[in-house]
Amino acid sequence: MKVRAPIAVTARASALAALVGAGLGAGALLTGLPVAATESVDAEALVQKNCTSCHGSEMYTREDRKIGSFSALETQVEACNTNLDTGMFPEEVKAVATLLNEEYYKFEQ
Ligand code: HEC
Repeated sequence: MKVRAPIAVTARASALAALVGAGLGAGALLTGLPVAATESVDAEALVQKNCTSCHGSEMYTREDRKIGSFSALETQVEACNTNLDTGMFPEEVKAVATLLNEEYYKFEQ
């Protein structure tokens, strides 16, 4: 029993060494991080700051909601953004649309 732990640790370390040795270490690390532009934006904070003055999430879950596709969702977020004149950047609009899609709409992208 006592020898097991060190063996497991060694196995893991050598597996990691093999990955790094194969040049996969960096790649795996990069893909594991939220590096995409849309994911580095704090969409949740943007929604809190810019959207909740007019409507909350009930707008995205109402029975007769208007949005029928991801691109329509992006267009609507952009429209609300323009109404507001908050000047969100395109990648922020995209990140907000993506967040709403993940939480409420669930369209295929
Ligand atoms: C100035 C008030 C106002 C603000 C601020 C606002 N919205 Fe809206 N939003 C509306 C109104 C009004 C509607 C309903 C439009 C309609 O029914 O045609 C709407 C509808 C929507 C819809 C469509 C809901 C559906 O499926 O029918 C989405 C998505 C949406 N807003 C997202 C946002 C986001 C994201 C923000 C923040 C960036 C935001 N809105 C900020 C007024 C606002």
